[in-house]
Amino acid sequence: MQLEQATKKAHALRQLITQYNYQYYVLDAPSIMDHEYDQLMRKLIEIETEFPEIINSNSPTQRLGVSPVTKLQEVKHLLPMLSLANVFNEDEMHSFDTRIKEELCVETIDFSGETKLDGLAVNILYKNGLLITAATRGDGSLGEDITHNIRTIQEVPLSLIGENIPQSLEVRGEVVMTHKGFATLNNTQRDKGGKVFANPRNAAAGSLRQLDSRVTAERPLSFFAFGIGDYNGNINLTNHTNILRQLKLWGLPVSSESKRLSNIHECLSYYAKIKTMRSRLPHDIDGVVFKVNEISQQHQLGFVSRAPRWAIAYKFPPLEKITQLLGIEIQVGRTGALTPVARLSPVKVAGVLITNATLHNFDEIKRKDIKIGDWVYVRRAGDVIPEIVGVIKEKRSDVSEFIMPSFCPACGADVVCQDGEVVYRCIGGLICSAQRTQAIIHFASRKAMNIDGLGSKLIVQLNELGLINTVADLYLLSQEQLSGLDRMGIKSAENLITALEKSKKTTLERFLYAMGIREVGEATALTIAAKYQSITSIEQATTKELKTIPDIGPITAFNINHFFQQKYNLEIIQSLILAGVYWETKSDATSLPFCDMVFVLTGSLSIMPRDEAKQRLLMLGGKVTEKVSKKINYVIYGQNPGSKYERAIELGIKTLNEESFMKMIEKKVEP
Ligand code: IVH
Repeated sequence: MQLEQATKKAHALRQLITQYNYQYYVLDAPSIMDHEYDQLMRKLIEIETEFPEIINSNSPTQRLGVSPVTKLQEVKHLLPMLSLANVFNEDEMHSFDTRIKEELCVETIDFSGETKLDGLAVNILYKNGLLITAATRGDGSLGEDITHNIRTIQEVPLSLIGENIPQSLEVRGEVVMTHKGFATLNNTQRDKGGKVFANPRNAAAGSLRQLDSRVTAERPLSFFAFGIGDYNGNINLTNHTNILRQLKLWGLPVSSESKRLSNIHECLSYYAKIKTMRSRLPHDIDGVVFKVNEISQQHQLGFVSRAPRWAIAYKFPPLEKITQLLGIEIQVGRTGALTPVARLSPVKVAGVLITNATLHNFDEIKRKDIKIGDWVYVRRAGDVIPEIVGVIKEKRSDVSEFIMPSFCPACGADVVCQDGEVVYRCIGGLICSAQRTQAIIHFASRKAMNIDGLGSKLIVQLNELGLINTVADLYLLSQEQLSGLDRMGIKSAENLITALEKSKKTTLERFLYAMGIREVGEATALTIAAKYQSITSIEQATTKELKTIPDIGPITAFNINHFFQQKYNLEIIQSLILAGVYWETKSDATSLPFCDMVFVLTGSLSIMPRDEAKQRLLMLGGKVTEKVSKKINYVIYGQNPGSKYERAIELGIKTLNEESFMKMIEKKVEP
C-alpha cells in the first residue's frame, strides 16, 4: 500500500470506528458485532504499524495510553468553571424558585433537571471538531492538563461527528466510575496489594490524575457531558435542553435522565423520582441539578461568588456517616473463608439503619488500620453491603487491636492462611457446621457421588432437622425419615434410597473429588487417583511427594496433605467405607500387591470391622467373595469361624488368622 492510500484508508477506518463507538456508548444501540468492530480496529492498527507517520493522537488506536508525562501541566479554561450552590429541602427549593422568579419578573420558569453525578468535573476543548485539551476544574480558572488520560475513555469522542461542527467548543462534564467497575478495580488492587479506593469518586479522581495514561486506560471510567463553556459555532444554542441535545448529536454522552421541567412542582417530583432510582443507577449521584433552561434568562441572572444564580444542586442525604466500631466478629462462609464483620453503633445511612459492615479480610483491617473502638466512616451505596471506608485517627482513644482467631468459631478446627493468600480459612471442611451444607451439596453432585434426587433444598432441610451432620450420615438415612420430609412422598423417598445405594459404587477419583478439598477439582482428583491407586496411599502422601506430581502446585499439595492429616476427615472416610461406599480398582491397578487375589472373610473379627477389612483388601487390589471355592487364595478367619473355615481346610486353601491378616495388609505382601 502507498502512503497516500494508507492515509485515506486509515481516515475512513477512524471515521467508521468513531461512528460505531457513538452508537455503542452514546446511543446505547450498537449496530455491529464485537468481533466486526475488533476487526476494524485490527486493520487500523496494521496500517498504522506499517505507516507510523500517519498516526495522530485522535486515532482510536491511541486510547490504550501513551508514554507517561513527568508532571501535570496547567491549563487555563476559556470560560471559568463554576460550582453550584446547594439546597437540602423543599423549603429551600421554593426559596430558590421565588428568588429567581422575582428577579426575572415572571410567573413560572422552565427548568432542566439532571442527575448530579458524583465524580470529577472536566473541561474538554474541541477545535474544529478535534479534541485538543482536557483539564480538571482546578480552581475554576486554571486546571490540570489530563488530555492524555481523557483520551483513554472510550465514551469521549476524539473527534466530533455530525453537522455544524463548531470552530471552538468547551464541553463540561463529569468523569465517573460505575459501582461494578469500582468493585472490580478494588478487587484487582487488593490482589496486587495496591491502593484500595474508598469510593468510586476517589477512584475516578485517582485514575484521572495519573501521569501514566496506560494506567488510566485500564480503569473503568465513564463520562457524561452536562453543559458547555466557551462556544464559537454557527448554530444558536438558546436553551439548555438544546445544548444537551446538540452535544449528543456531536457524539457526546449525556445523562439519559435529563428532563425539561415546566415549574417547581415538576422539579420536586423529578427529585423524588431520581431519589428512588438512586440505588439502581450504575454510578453514584449525590443529588439533582436544576438549571434555568433559557440561556437569555441565565445571562440575566448571572452569578455570585463563582456559583451561577440560575442553577442549584438539591442534594441527597449522604451515603457516608460517622459511627463507632463496637467490635469485630467472625463469619465463616460456605467455603470456609473467615470474614471479619464490623459491629457498629447503629447509624442511619441514606435512610437505612446500619449495624454491621463487611471488613472483607484481615489484610483490609491492617491496611485501613482499623481498631476496635475506633470512629469510622461507614458507606452504604445502593444494595451493596455497607463498608468501612476509613478511620478518624484524631478521634482515637482507648482502642484495642483485632486478632484473627486461630480456631474456627463454628467448629473449632484450625484456621490457616496460606502464603500469598489474604483469606484465612477454616480447614474443618466436612465437620464445620458453617461449611457442612455446601460440602454435602458438593458431595452429592453429579460429578462427585452423583446422588440422583438429592438437591440442595433437601440437603438444607436435612441439615436443619439435624438428620445429617456429615456426608457419611446420608447413608444412614431411612426411608421412613425421608418420607416424613416436606414435599417428599413414599415414592420419592424410595427413589432417593435407591439413588444413595447406587452411589455407593463409585471410583477413587470421584470419591476424592467428592471430599471437596480446596483446589482439588475433577482433573486433579483423577491425577492423584491414577498415581496412588488407593485412598490409604493418598492419606499417607506427604506434601513434598504430592508437589512432585505434574500439575500439582504447592498450595494444592498442602491442601491435600492437610485434609488427610485431620482425624475427623479420616473418620468420615472410614464411616463412608463402612456404610458401603466402594470403588473398583482400575485395570491399570495390576501393580497393586494383591491384584487378582480372592479372599473370603469368616467368623467375627476383633481387630477391625469386617467392612473395613473388606475395603482394605479391595484397595490393595484384592477381591472379596462369600463362597469358598478352589479359586479362593485365602480364607481369613476370626472367632467362631464355622462352615466356611471347614470347607477351606477341606479344599486345602490357605487360612489366615487376624494377626497374620493384619501383618499382610500392613506389609502389603503375602505371608
Ligand atoms: S453544572 C454552572 N451539572 O457538581 C454549573 N454540575 O457542585 C456548573 N456536577 O463542579 C456545574 N453533575 O463537578 C452541573 N449535571 C450536572 C452535574 C454537575 C455533577 C458536579 C460538577 C460541578 C459540581 C458542582
